[in-house]
Amino acid sequence: MKLGINIDHIATLRNARKINEPDPLMALHILKEAGADQVTIHLREDRRHITDFDAKRICENSFLPVNMECSINPEIIDIICTLKPHRATLVPEKREEVTTEGGLDVIKFEKEIKNAIDKLHANDIEVSLFIDPDFEQIKKSAETGAEMIELHTGKYANMHLALNTNINHTPFNVFENMDRKTLKKELELELKLLKDATILGNELELEVAAGHGLNYQNVKPITDIKGIVELNIGHSIIANSVFLGLKQAIIQMRELINE
Ligand code: PXP
Repeated sequence: MKLGINIDHIATLRNARKINEPDPLMALHILKEAGADQVTIHLREDRRHITDFDAKRICENSFLPVNMECSINPEIIDIICTLKPHRATLVPEKREEVTTEGGLDVIKFEKEIKNAIDKLHANDIEVSLFIDPDFEQIKKSAETGAEMIELHTGKYANMHLALNTNINHTPFNVFENMDRKTLKKELELELKLLKDATILGNELELEVAAGHGLNYQNVKPITDIKGIVELNIGHSIIANSVFLGLKQAIIQMRELINE
């Protein structure tokens, strides 16, 4: 299973001081040394973390494949086409969200997504669609010409967190107030859904990745799903690198995934 490291939050930390360190570019050789397979960055419309300058330098200098998350906004797609990452992962984007809250609605935005895919393919950029584990979305994704889907594991991660932390510890987690028995059952159902979604994706000849909210505590059941070929993990690894250093934080995740 491949491991992509999302380094957006190195830029988040830099931007908190509005100066030049830590520089996300400096993470690249550490990612490689620690056994990561890919660097993932999200050039958001509001440029809240990764900037155009970061994206340009990372695409020009990375010795690992670059997976660029982006919205389907045509202006952003045009920028991605000039940057030429190895892959673009199309995600939904809302200005007011803290992080990417749900999957892309491929049914609703089919035309816009197909236009984006055509432009990206014309520039030799592979495309992945970040979607919820929803069968109709997967079927529609297969019709768009995208090579890959990335299943949104955020709901699974939030349920896992609610089950394993004290009530009111994570106040924004909508599952905190669900009783534990129901929550346990819902968590199992969500895992089953991720498994079945992977099977369907593979049957439709889509490569299947997964990501969002994955951490050292919840990653194992996801790595056990046969057919998922790649995980993209950001927040937890960057958070742990504050204590462990980036290299060690990646090595620990790599070991869990390889087990
Ligand atoms: N995959 C996609 C498509 C994402 O949008 C994100 C968040 O930017 C991630 C993976 C990583 O999520 P997290 O930071 O929660 O690990």
